[in-house]
Amino acid sequence: MKKNRSLLLLLTLPVLISCNTGEQKKTNTDTAAGREWWKEAIVYQVYPRSFKDSDGDGIGDLKGIISKLDYIKSLGVTAVWLNPIYSSPNDDNGYDVSDYRDIMKDFGTMQDFDALLKGLHERNIKLVMDLVVNHSSDEHEWFKQSRSSRTSPYRNYYHWWDAERGKPNYRYSLFDINHDAWKYDSTTNAYYLHYFSRKQPDLNWENPALRKEVYGIMKFWADKGIDGFRLDAFQFTAKDTSFPAFPKGFENDFVKYYAMVPGLHNYLQEMNKEVFSKYNVMSVAEGAGNSFRDAHELVDASRKELNMAYAFDGVDIAKPEGYSIRRLKEVFSRWDSAFAQNGWLSIFLANHDQARMVSRFASDVPQFRELSAKMLNTFILSMRGTPYCYNGDELGMTNAGFTRIEQYRDMPTLNEYKHLQQTGGDIPKFLKQIQFSCRDNGRTPFQWDSSKNAGFSTGLPWLQLNPNYRDINVAVQEKDEKSVLNYFRRMTKLRKENPALVYGAYQLVDKNNPSVYAYTREWQGKKFLVVLNFTSKAAAFDPAADLSKAKTLISNYPGGSAAKQLRPYEAVVYQL
Ligand code: GLC
Repeated sequence: MKKNRSLLLLLTLPVLISCNTGEQKKTNTDTAAGREWWKEAIVYQVYPRSFKDSDGDGIGDLKGIISKLDYIKSLGVTAVWLNPIYSSPNDDNGYDVSDYRDIMKDFGTMQDFDALLKGLHERNIKLVMDLVVNHSSDEHEWFKQSRSSRTSPYRNYYHWWDAERGKPNYRYSLFDINHDAWKYDSTTNAYYLHYFSRKQPDLNWENPALRKEVYGIMKFWADKGIDGFRLDAFQFTAKDTSFPAFPKGFENDFVKYYAMVPGLHNYLQEMNKEVFSKYNVMSVAEGAGNSFRDAHELVDASRKELNMAYAFDGVDIAKPEGYSIRRLKEVFSRWDSAFAQNGWLSIFLANHDQARMVSRFASDVPQFRELSAKMLNTFILSMRGTPYCYNGDELGMTNAGFTRIEQYRDMPTLNEYKHLQQTGGDIPKFLKQIQFSCRDNGRTPFQWDSSKNAGFSTGLPWLQLNPNYRDINVAVQEKDEKSVLNYFRRMTKLRKENPALVYGAYQLVDKNNPSVYAYTREWQGKKFLVVLNFTSKAAAFDPAADLSKAKTLISNYPGGSAAKQLRPYEAVVYQL
């Protein structure tokens, strides 16, 4: 897929992991051969900074999460993925780690972590940790040593280019103000590489000593009993360290140049041997490479690398001006077919790098918001692949509606704003773009109740609340049987009670329908039909089956389904 260098894309990050999915195989066979807990898991992503603050400093923390474990359990999810909680100066909200074996002060202590893990396990919920090892913080001891002298034993933990060799070939940085990934450092008269911000120097995976350190860190957490790792930006770790020139304009398609460089699979196989194979942990890569082949090579069980990967084609589709539902169907169906026989996929429409799914993929206007949220959750929880549900989406939380740059906290967004100021860019256009796409939209404090700061914190929240918290919050929705929250719980129950929704063959129905996304899931004699109207208009659809005898298992309209004529954002799951 051709990537253009629009700010919108850069700031929403899916560009990290684009997939050129030219190849296509049509298979819908049963993948249940190897039943695994991580295939049957329903993952709930907790963004710790915004979830629940226990000490009034305006920043969510581990004790806050602990206080909400019963809530998490009540959702019916079976695993939690925590964004990074390690020590960090927070240039990029924890994705810049300064100590991989300690807890960020804002979040608490190692005792809090141990209590959190225990609390989750007591509730039969697994814990997946973020592993950020494409880069560290520039405040990590390794980097401090590395930059101190050319002869430091840590020099080769990072990528340095001595200045007397001249300026290295251009490398594009996603987060840098000038998008230059080489930063000159006068201490040793050399440049260091940072694909992300200047405070996130890239680690040198060619160095066996660095790799050993990383496996040691992973074992440290695995020995504590955690259940999995989400490998952040991992497909960028391998690099051609001769840093050859790339063709002019490569940055418009930089994933092609940065991702899956030979060497990556060796690192993963080594990691698997050293760590994964020794523990009952799952592994998921952020990104699935550039092609189906890449994706398969990452997750093909016989290769002993990873369990699953995220493909970003799907989340990339939503645009402020709308998007093609046919295209959405085509992308998700293509990815399903790619993993029908071998490998496993992650299903998601949102995470901490995306704006809110209701605002992007359906409608957040009051008339349709709840229907939309229920419809999208029905989708995520009825597809083949492991569903990843982002905190707040079980309530139908929406985009923040920020209008001024002062309301944002996201570093790459603020850097891009400065860049536009310096270069005379179109600021109003930018503000409009980020209102739709900026990551902060999905990071506003979690909405617990209608009290001050939505019950998130007694202090001033680090990021402004969404003003709609009085209408959209847990307390209100607990009381309403028909709420998005209670619908979400019914959906997780349905999935857990029906392995056909996990493993069942997926088959599109009424393929060319421009408004309705419908598919069957079939496994061991059970067949379900999922029908989703992705639009705000009534839509006709052809079920290709006699629905008169079908049983409605769940529906987001009172009184059940409307069969062949769907109402706006209607969602129904039938058993055929
Ligand atoms: C990943 C994370 C994102 C972070 C980036 C750099 O894409 O999901 O939040 O900014 O890596 O670590």
